[in-house]
Amino acid sequence: MKRSAQIAPSLLAADFGNLDKDVKMVDESQAIWHHIDVMDGVFVPNISYGMPVIKAIRKVAKKPLDAHLMIVQPDRYIETFAGLGVNNLTVHYEACTHLHRTLQAIRNTGMKAGIALNPHTPVSLLEHSLEGADLICIMSVNPGFGGQSFIENTYEKVRELRSMIDSKGVKTLIEVDGGVTLDNTAKLVQAGADVLVAGSAVFRSEDPKATIARMASTKVY
Ligand code: DX5
Ligand code: ZN
Repeated sequence: MKRSAQIAPSLLAADFGNLDKDVKMVDESQAIWHHIDVMDGVFVPNISYGMPVIKAIRKVAKKPLDAHLMIVQPDRYIETFAGLGVNNLTVHYEACTHLHRTLQAIRNTGMKAGIALNPHTPVSLLEHSLEGADLICIMSVNPGFGGQSFIENTYEKVRELRSMIDSKGVKTLIEVDGGVTLDNTAKLVQAGADVLVAGSAVFRSEDPKATIARMASTKVY
């Protein structure tokens, strides 16, 4: 069977002085979502952007917003993100004491619920959470910064998660985030990824739209 992945460009690597231009570029490209990285300087050692910027993005964006919360106590902001028009809300496994409750609260707002896993967190811990999640974001770098190198054990984690999802017969999507480039796209698709997040590889390329198209059309058999 032929497989390919959808692409979610990370706006963290966009030009913040011309954000509407980059948002429009993603809208006109073959990308599926806008990936929105929210960092609080506590869960990760960096602060990115928050509500006013997401509001500005939402005004221009036509495609769904895929928000990745790298923050502690994400429950405090679920309603706020729903109100901003976010479509997918992903929280970190490592930041949630009552993950099941958090996922339910996200779904209750009508948003899709996602779980992100740090590189050291085994996918086996998700065995009883897959039904409650619409997507699993496997971090292929330590979260906090764009432009880092891809961590190689990701392929194994994606393969293991693919087989867990397939054997349970659930529809949960596998997203891979961090260090994704045209060089590892095929191998990630082969391992079973459904959505690839790419920041630097898209926005630092000469023709971002063409790069998205090349990633999206990478097929494996
Ligand atoms: C990392 C973020 C990623 C990041 C990806 O903490 O979650 O979404 O922006 O950027 P690249 O593709 O440059 O690694
Ligand atoms: Zn991200």
